[in-house]
Amino acid sequence: MSDTKMDSIISLTKRRGFIYQGSEVYGGLSGTWDYGPLGVQLKRNITDAWWRHFVSNRDDMYGVDAAILMNQKVWQASGHVDTFVDPLCEDTVNHRRYRTDHILKDNGIDAESMTMEEMDAAIIEHGIKSPDGNPLSPSRTFNMMFKTHVGATEDESAISYLRPETAQGIFTNYKNVVDAFYPNIPFGLAQIGKAFRNEISPRDFVFRSREFEQMEIEYFVHPDRWEESFEELLASTHKFLSSLGLRSENIHELDVPEADRAHYSKKTIDIEFDYPTGKAELLGIAYRTDFDLSNIQQASGKSMEYRVKGSDEKFIPHVIEPSFGVERLMMAVLSEAYREDEVNGERRVYLHLPEELAPIKCAVSPLLKNKPELVEKARDVYRALKQKYDGAVMWDDNGNIGKRYRRQDEIGTPRCVVIDFQTLEDDTVTVRDRDTTEQVRVSVKELV
Ligand code: GLY
Repeated sequence: MSDTKMDSIISLTKRRGFIYQGSEVYGGLSGTWDYGPLGVQLKRNITDAWWRHFVSNRDDMYGVDAAILMNQKVWQASGHVDTFVDPLCEDTVNHRRYRTDHILKDNGIDAESMTMEEMDAAIIEHGIKSPDGNPLSPSRTFNMMFKTHVGATEDESAISYLRPETAQGIFTNYKNVVDAFYPNIPFGLAQIGKAFRNEISPRDFVFRSREFEQMEIEYFVHPDRWEESFEELLASTHKFLSSLGLRSENIHELDVPEADRAHYSKKTIDIEFDYPTGKAELLGIAYRTDFDLSNIQQASGKSMEYRVKGSDEKFIPHVIEPSFGVERLMMAVLSEAYREDEVNGERRVYLHLPEELAPIKCAVSPLLKNKPELVEKARDVYRALKQKYDGAVMWDDNGNIGKRYRRQDEIGTPRCVVIDFQTLEDDTVTVRDRDTTEQVRVSVKELV
């Protein structure tokens, strides 16, 4: 199943207009992906569902949308300039560069908890060579932030970075939101946006790319009560994943050991998912303590203390951070939804997407496209359903009905409506169900 299933999903997403290689027409740009008409809608449905679940449906969450380019002091204070690094080694003959832990993993050695020196020692001990069979250099650290210059000068003072996490745009706005809304603690700030990491070796389709989208919450809590909020957000995360159709047997919690945790975290639970390519991280929930706000207070000289209403108690809040990658979630959703079965002796592929996530909720077809009376009636039904489903309806009159059904199955459209000659007599249409392929006759009035 595994690699074959992944290949089938990748091929479907390209064929049907979900995901393309970035800059493909020029030979591509490694680690970047473009989203086609259905991909952008699927992604939007996922981010909308997340926002509804974690922000709109709660009273303790506030949304923000911060700039991607930030003052370089942000990344100095956050520790990213010094510690946001991966181990990099080099093929000593052709000078291709690799992530040392990935080289080890590809040779069956789990390097997650190893220091860089231990990784280099393992390479020597096991005689590991580069994929081209050449000796590897000792490792060095490689900072994953994309560096740029803001404005016309290119000196040190103009350095900026494309943000490697959306989180810092939240921390830097914590004080603004507290001053404007004075929320009761605990409360959270949420943000959805692009993040960038100069991955040494992007891989596994959209799983590890250089430009991606995050959905992050920084949840500010009393220092003594972080555990209850951690548990609450973890439980809420499981509920959210289940609402996206991800089955609990494919979801696993990993209590990340200290050596593998990010520099700011005192506890992290990774939620892993059984992708077709194997178990891998889907998202993380980290206890970031007061690491970020204290650093900001120290570096900016501005107080980040929270004063409890009606009391003299003041403290720098601690933080729980649920951090989701949109593309990883989309990959999980697609691999959970991808199904193959047999209909009338023919192999069929369909996406068993929850209705909320399906890019197209309904397809409308005239049985025959050369019968004006059928087309006219079908156009009326199409317009009415466009309103009902907020635009997420597709007009489909290409090929015969069987082909249309297959096409809609592959993009996960839950129902197909066909206008036939009987419609002209009794105003009923056939509605075909994606999962069962069963058809029922329904009156247009009832449908709309
Ligand atoms: N903010 C956590 C992360 O980007 O992984």
